[in-house]
Amino acid sequence: MKETIMKIVVIGGTGLIGAKLVNTLREHGHEAAAAAPNTGVNTLTGEGLAEVLKGASVVVDVSNSPSWDDAAVLNFFETSTRNLLRYETAAGVRHHVALSVVGTGQLSESGYFRAKIAQEKLIQESSVPYTIIHATQFFEFLKGLADISMVGDKVHLPPVLFQPMAADDVASAVGKVAVGSPANGIVEIAGPEQFRLDELVRRRLATLKDSREVVADPGARYSGAKISEKTLVPGNNARLGETRFETWLTQSAATGRAA
Ligand SMILES: NC(=O)c1ccc[n+]([C@@H]2O[C@H](COP(=O)([O-])OP(=O)(O)OC[C@H]3O[C@@H](n4cnc5c(N)ncnc54)[C@H](OP(=O)(O)O)[C@@H]3O)[C@@H](O)[C@H]2O)c1
Repeated sequence: MKETIMKIVVIGGTGLIGAKLVNTLREHGHEAAAAAPNTGVNTLTGEGLAEVLKGASVVVDVSNSPSWDDAAVLNFFETSTRNLLRYETAAGVRHHVALSVVGTGQLSESGYFRAKIAQEKLIQESSVPYTIIHATQFFEFLKGLADISMVGDKVHLPPVLFQPMAADDVASAVGKVAVGSPANGIVEIAGPEQFRLDELVRRRLATLKDSREVVADPGARYSGAKISEKTLVPGNNARLGETRFETWLTQSAATGRAA
């Protein structure tokens, strides 16, 4: 990242990816502003947006909705993206970067993914140059994935292909996109290895000593949507992170990081 020093506003800059991204950008000499409700910036209401965007070249949106109820999450991504793009246009921001998920376009049966589809559409229709990053699931999300896939007291997941990645690698890839030129399209990022979805969640729960049974269920849904063998894996041009699952497990056990 040897490039012109820029002001880059990270929306959701206190979150899992956002906090790592702010650190990476600062290490490379950029002025990175962490924008979130507890730093005085609320994209739902517009509070603090005009001030934080003053002098900004790039906005990276790695925020997430506090509630994943269908209506709440749709309102979050639609309202916050509309507000952001409006304030960015007024401030002369030259690149809007947003983090979304590999396979989003095929997941419209899911309320969460209908909201991500709406977010992406607003970005694509806006006049602000953009890059949408489609990432695969984060290793840190594997337990969360079990939590949203419960049928009775068991975790039901389809045994489809799965290529998740470490949040550190997500932040590093997003940082590179943020300091580059807008693609005005979608770029994909993913982990270095493929697994079966049920298999990896089972392994993760075992390391957490979480006794829930993980059932390989071809009819089970992902976040409420039917998926097929390759819905969650990227195409051939994806940029791959370096961290393998076993390495991440060892590192997260050593640092005592939460699931
Ligand atoms: N989980 C996965 O496996 C996965 C995979 C691919 C892509 N993604 C995408 O990655 C993105 C980031 O996920 P994450 O796990 O890093 O999120 P996260 O840890 O939940 O962080 C969410 C951030 O959004 C902020 N935020 C919430 N409401 C806001 C508002 N009204 N205005 C401004 N900021 C607000 C939060 O601030 P406070 O903490 O102050 O509330 C926090 O900084 C999401 O868009 C998600 O769709 C996730």
